[in-house]
Amino acid sequence: MKFKKSLVVPLSLILAVSLCSLSLPPEEKAKNLKVLPKNISHEELMQTMHLFNKSLGVKCDFCHAHSKEDPKKLDFASDVLEEKETARDMMKMTMRINKKFFKSGKDENGKQIMTVTCYSCHNGQKEPVATPPGGNEKGPQGPPPPGAHDGPPPPPPANH
Ligand code: HEC
Ligand code: HEC
Repeated sequence: MKFKKSLVVPLSLILAVSLCSLSLPPEEKAKNLKVLPKNISHEELMQTMHLFNKSLGVKCDFCHAHSKEDPKKLDFASDVLEEKETARDMMKMTMRINKKFFKSGKDENGKQIMTVTCYSCHNGQKEPVATPPGGNEKGPQGPPPPGAHDGPPPPPPANH
């Protein structure tokens, strides 16, 4: 019994470590980059990916498909998910916006300075919201959309 108990801790430790490594892909060279520089460091690639997660309020598997051989793992190089291709278009668009409309230059390391980022539009959401809360053609006088909490106060009840 004592012997078995001592096994429990290391096993759960191993499990915890391997669970953590689920989100951390092996430090091998990326093999399917079409927008990011092919010589990007692993660290920089991961920084970019974590920014995507935070900007859209998603996890890695929003864009990366699960591996066919081992569904517990993600196949990061695979392009089967539409969202990954959309993200590539979004990256190109974002870079173009910065270059063309903000003339954002490069920093001392030659890296493009990003004035507009994924977060500028997405704000932690998969699909950016196009209309401000409570905003419609009628302006502040209009009724608040259903579910709005910070719209104008409701009109006073009619007399009688
Ligand atoms: C919004 C979509 C999106 C999210 C979320 C995302 N990625 Fe990516 N990821 C991409 C795109 C797009 C590429 C390919 C970039 C290119 O073509 O230059 C990529 C490429 C990669 C690659 C390189 C794969 C290869 O071999 O070419 C790795 C590794 C990776 N992502 C890991 C992650 C991890 C880890 C997370 C979560 C922390 C994550 N990604 C979240 C869109 C995403
Ligand atoms: C100029 C604003 C803007 C910027 C910047 C932007 N996006 Fe988007 N993105 C949108 C809009 C708007 C949509 C929704 C398009 C639609 O509904 O057809 C969208 C949709 C998406 C989708 C599809 C979401 C879904 O539900 O399928 C992904 C993935 C995405 N963006 C990733 C990114 C990433 C990654 C970046 C940064 C590299 C980025 N976006 C930067 C405006 C933007």
